[in-house]
Amino acid sequence: MTMRGERLRIFTGNAHPELAKNICAHMGVPLGEATVERFPDGEINLKVDCDVRGADVFVVQSTCPPVHVNLFELLSFMDCLRRASADRITAVIPYFGYARKDRKDEGRVPINAKLVANLITAAGADRVLSIDLHAAQIQGFFDIPVDHLYARPVLMDKVRELGAENPIVVSPDVGGTKLARAYGKDLGADIAIIDKRRVSGETTVIENVVGEVEGRDVVLVDDMVSTGGSISAAARIVKEKGSGRVFIVASHAVLCGKAVEKLDACPAEKILFTDTIPLQEGGRPARLEQCSVAPLLARTIDRIHRSESVSSLFEGRAIPSDT
Ligand code: R5P
Repeated sequence: MTMRGERLRIFTGNAHPELAKNICAHMGVPLGEATVERFPDGEINLKVDCDVRGADVFVVQSTCPPVHVNLFELLSFMDCLRRASADRITAVIPYFGYARKDRKDEGRVPINAKLVANLITAAGADRVLSIDLHAAQIQGFFDIPVDHLYARPVLMDKVRELGAENPIVVSPDVGGTKLARAYGKDLGADIAIIDKRRVSGETTVIENVVGEVEGRDVVLVDDMVSTGGSISAAARIVKEKGSGRVFIVASHAVLCGKAVEKLDACPAEKILFTDTIPLQEGGRPARLEQCSVAPLLARTIDRIHRSESVSSLFEGRAIPSDT
């Protein structure tokens, strides 16, 4: 067993301290002391309050809303830890924001996912650990090692408890086919796909449902729910097509705008999200059950620290590549 840096240290910014505390509780280690405040003009005022020289350091920080504040806190941590002579710095980003801007899909637009990857690397990260990147190829935007975890095993434990009858896994758009197939494989179910067209960041139009949902319980899966428009419209259309019960399952609960109202108004019987992103005050959908990724992240951090295999955590449970 090789251990990089004698001491393991885990820090968090203000994105999701609760998740970081839960990770530490699972690992039986204290959360590293740091002050992450704001100057009166809004600039970030960060100080790590314990020695990190030679330590193997992990910073838990989702780049969820407020995206730019959380991102800059993460960058400040990287810079600070590098200058404080940490042996190795891992950016633990359970939810990686800007992931949907992963290519130039029209002229004169930035590739912000690449820009964010460049910033994190330049700031001093040696490794990245993330969960369900919107596009797996974002791993290649980094020239440092990226451990990419799946939330599916965490969510599947709860999905099985739903007791869906004659289930069919439905993706709310073509881009989610691969993810739907992976859930389908776990559930022993086939899949259907909703032919969705995005009109704007807020609005999508559903053209068709490809697959037979009538009389079957539907497990609707997506990597993220942002405004809630796609998933709530998908829940309505499968119901209109005569489906049985509808369940919503997603890794990242961004839940911006009127997402909670949309989810509460849609015909889903149960909603399963992970806790990669904290729920805002008053921002909890009524039928939500959260599944924590803290144990998964704790096990992974422990393995990285001990230089043990991370992929073996998912043996036989990766997303199938035969799309
Ligand atoms: C799209 O490719 C993603 O997988 C999600 O379907 C999408 O980002 C959800 O956005 P919203 O909740 O705003 O419809």
